[in-house]
Amino acid sequence: MNVIILGAPGVGKGTQAQLLVDREKFVQLSTGDILRSEQANGTELGLAAKLYMERGELVPDTVILNMVALRMETGKSYLFDGFPRTIAQAEGFETILSGRGMKIDRVISLEVPFDEIVKRLSSRRVALKSGRVYNLMSNPPKVEGICDVSGEPLIHRADDQPEAIQVRLQEYEKKTAPLKQYYERKIGVSIVDANGEVEAVYRRVKATLA
Ligand code: AP5
Ligand code: MG
Repeated sequence: MNVIILGAPGVGKGTQAQLLVDREKFVQLSTGDILRSEQANGTELGLAAKLYMERGELVPDTVILNMVALRMETGKSYLFDGFPRTIAQAEGFETILSGRGMKIDRVISLEVPFDEIVKRLSSRRVALKSGRVYNLMSNPPKVEGICDVSGEPLIHRADDQPEAIQVRLQEYEKKTAPLKQYYERKIGVSIVDANGEVEAVYRRVKATLA
């Protein structure tokens, strides 16, 4: 089963995807995580994406589509987290999928009010290599500043500063939000209330996959 997780920045896409990877047979494909790891490794792709990401703007569609096409293998169950992000990406994605004889089985839209999003992002900490996500308020690591699983230092993402958060939310409204209607027409969208405890949200997400 292949699943797209839609939702605004900070709504909890990565958190829910990680739980599904840990507890079910899914592989997470997060374009944001891939781009951050490319940056950490100083690759050409990472450098090309850096300025867009720091400002909170979307990286060009062709870059993203090539990156995803290179990483997709047949025979796996993918959770697409943060991709597609524009109508052009969704259309290009259809070509990638059909070329591999694959399809999307579910589209989930996680939803919380914007003020909750700003709160979640301001107190988020992430581990770059493991991709694990923490929150100083709702999900702190066992040892301050250290990933529970990989032991690597936790960072405050450059785009989790107030100015970049605002740009990301605007980009989302303008370019990504229309995807909900796009997939509503094509496959149907399961809307999940992402308010409340992480485990409560997980139960709602899991129910949509039955
Ligand atoms: P990306 O990394 O995808 O960022 P995003 O979409 O802005 O989403 P986030 O990762 O910020 O949030 P999330 O929904 O995963 O929330 P999380 O689980 O971390 O993209 C970053 C940038 O890369 C983009 O701006 C763009 O430049 C570029 N990019 C990436 N993909 C692209 C694409 N396809 N096209 C073009 N450009 C692309 O949770 C947030 C916080 O809340 C955490 O601290 C978490 O612990 C906490 N939390 C989660 N759930 C709960 C809960 N239920 N209650 C309380 N706290 C919670
Ligand atoms: Mg994420």
